[in-house]
Amino acid sequence: MYKLFFNLVFKRMDPEQAHYLAFRWIRLAARIPVLRTFVAAALAPRHKELRTEAFGLRMHGPFGLAAGFDKNAVAIDGMSMLGFDHIEIGTVTGEAQPGNPKKRLFRLVQDRALINRMGFNNEGSAAVAERLAARKAVFRTTVGVNIGKTKVVAEADAAADYVKSTERLAAHADYLVVNVSSPNTPGLRNLQATESLRPLLTAVREAADRTVTDRRVPLLVKIAPDLADEDVDAVADLAVELGLDGIIATNTTTAREGLGLKSDPALVKETGGLSGAPLKERSLEVLSRLYARVGDSITLVGVGGIETAEDAWQRILAGATLVQGYSAFIYQGPFWGRAIHKGLAARLAASPYATLAEAVGAETRKAVK
Ligand SMILES: Cc1cc2nc3c(=O)[nH]c(=O)nc-3n(C[C@H](O)[C@H](O)[C@H](O)COP(=O)(O)O)c2cc1C
Repeated sequence: MYKLFFNLVFKRMDPEQAHYLAFRWIRLAARIPVLRTFVAAALAPRHKELRTEAFGLRMHGPFGLAAGFDKNAVAIDGMSMLGFDHIEIGTVTGEAQPGNPKKRLFRLVQDRALINRMGFNNEGSAAVAERLAARKAVFRTTVGVNIGKTKVVAEADAAADYVKSTERLAAHADYLVVNVSSPNTPGLRNLQATESLRPLLTAVREAADRTVTDRRVPLLVKIAPDLADEDVDAVADLAVELGLDGIIATNTTTAREGLGLKSDPALVKETGGLSGAPLKERSLEVLSRLYARVGDSITLVGVGGIETAEDAWQRILAGATLVQGYSAFIYQGPFWGRAIHKGLAARLAASPYATLAEAVGAETRKAVK
């Protein structure tokens, strides 16, 4: 039914307009107690066997909403109601900014993909912190806060901008993510080089510890699929050395070649980050590589091209404790989160593993033996 609705309504609309319309409906539904209880009971069922622990946090299941969908933390309960068990808000930057000029989001329907060059349009760390502080949670959901650099801040001053966001947001974050991998802020991905990343992550860690003294806020870094393999290894080693809690792999890709894209070449040529199905293979590859390098010493989060429960299961077997998605939600609609968790429960039951934790990395361990 959603596919029909998508073809009749959303597909005919500008993708960004369609996003805001769907977003408005989700937020509205979440404000009506009877409706949200009904929807959550149908779409966010709890499977006991999928209970997950990641970086000291207990979750109902491993599947969550990737960053970029709820940039300003306005729909946490709405997305939780749809069955996403953790919601990563942001990217939030130190200062508010409008993002790139429109049009900046494109659907590659034939490829089940998106290209975006949103450019971190968001209300900024002060406004988002205020919203999170005032939030009265309806559902118990894990809230990750993903932070990035304000566009007008020079690369050399990036750390101070991330620290500003950390000071404002860490107290409201179940976990914090340093995003150095979006392709739409000039120079941002240079921060993945270990000589830049080391001082940045150290400064954010110190700021989080200074600001939040009653618990240790888990700190993760999110990386690009376009890193060379040696650079993936270097980030992994650095994360272990600095005692980071996790790595999120991956963000969108700037690559277009070799992905077998079938959409109109004019669309494929649009500048920005490509997400969805064509990203699947490389994201899985980066994840497996990371797990082979760090094992269970760091929690890995798999994202990029996940469409089905089978895709999510493959990420878990490759080494992911948590999995996330964004693009397939646009194509598959409100039953998607439920389908993933339900399918994962079935796969776990049919597998030789007693718990989800046992399955994490099982395939990669076999391959490196
Ligand atoms: C429109 C759009 C906006 C995004 N914005 C962000 C963002 O602000 N911060 C971030 O870390 N990732 C952002 N992402 C990347 C996603 O979080 C995710 O890493 C990527 O889309 C791959 O997952 P998918 O194939 O399931 O979409 C964005 C993705 C899309 C499609």
